[in-house]
Amino acid sequence: MRSVETFRDLQTEVTEWRRYLHRNPELGYGLENTAKFVTEKLASFGINHIETGIADTGIVALVQGEGGDGPTIGLRADMDALPILESSSKPWSSEIPGKMHACGHDGHTAMLLGAAKYLASERHFKGSVAFIFQPAEEVLPSGALGMLQEGIMQRFGISKVFGMHNRPNLEVGKFAICNGPALAALDEFDLVVKGKGGHAAAPHQTIDPVVIAGQIVLALQVLVSRSTDPTEALVISITKLMAAQAYNIIPDQVEMGGTVRTLVPRLRDFAERQILASAQGIARGFGGDVELKYRRDCPVTFNHAEETELAIKVARNLVGYASVDDKVRPRMGSEDFAYMLEARPGAIIWLGNGATAGLHHPAYDFNDEALPYGVGYWVNLVETVLAA
Ligand code: NI
Repeated sequence: MRSVETFRDLQTEVTEWRRYLHRNPELGYGLENTAKFVTEKLASFGINHIETGIADTGIVALVQGEGGDGPTIGLRADMDALPILESSSKPWSSEIPGKMHACGHDGHTAMLLGAAKYLASERHFKGSVAFIFQPAEEVLPSGALGMLQEGIMQRFGISKVFGMHNRPNLEVGKFAICNGPALAALDEFDLVVKGKGGHAAAPHQTIDPVVIAGQIVLALQVLVSRSTDPTEALVISITKLMAAQAYNIIPDQVEMGGTVRTLVPRLRDFAERQILASAQGIARGFGGDVELKYRRDCPVTFNHAEETELAIKVARNLVGYASVDDKVRPRMGSEDFAYMLEARPGAIIWLGNGATAGLHHPAYDFNDEALPYGVGYWVNLVETVLAA
């Protein structure tokens, strides 16, 4: 087990990479400059098995250990930024107005590069490590899913996969993780309430979709509070509600939209079925009807038991027992690493980013003090899971 001090030497260089990426953010799949930077760095470490252009700008680099035959494990970093105008006032602020690394993917990419540099020179492990650099974590369709559809798990023979994401308001030098569901599944829906429009002064000659929509908004919250096991998490939020543009017209229809978040796959089926049943029942009771379009995006990010134990052990050996919260509560956000955890066993861990602005906030910045902890976690994880 190597101490955090081992990785302080790398910190200056990794910080430079991180700040370069921060100044030059790119979005979604369009990561041409980022991918070029990552590929050039990987090549400069003496890594010769690098595949680029996976799901447009994704990269996988393979490093073989000197400890003999063994499995291949995947370590994943995301590389994309967000369409936000930065207000951090840091000297390394985004040079591209309207784009910024507000989720710390610049830090994730730099830390994985740091680990790749270290492990390419000190190959004290068996088997191989696949360094996965992913585009499009923040947009749909998901970059993780895209890379899986191009067969990275099979092509590189990856048997386990690990992820890491920074967490604001968790102290630098601390880690947090939980077994089982860590982040929610993300679904979205559009619901059109159909009535019959007319003059606002003659409601009896109409079927008012606004009144029907109002009842539906409330009924959907009853699905959560009265029809869902209170120990299981379900969020249904109506976020869009569009009717007529005039004071004196009852519209023909109201368009609603919203999101469903849950930690239990079964509740996705429940939500899809019951949103339709409730809305339809209400609308038909008043002579109207509804049309539902329900889309399932990211699944639940599910940490597997054995790999979670390994991650906890590695983190505790690095920073001490008490600095790793091994039972952190799941959150209802989502993360497309979920798809990789559906494909292979693995775990995602949270890395303390200190008292910074929150993720996706214009004043957010990845904390460079966290870099050696992240690099140290990756290296020690490899030397533990693939101990020669
Ligand atoms: Ni993120």
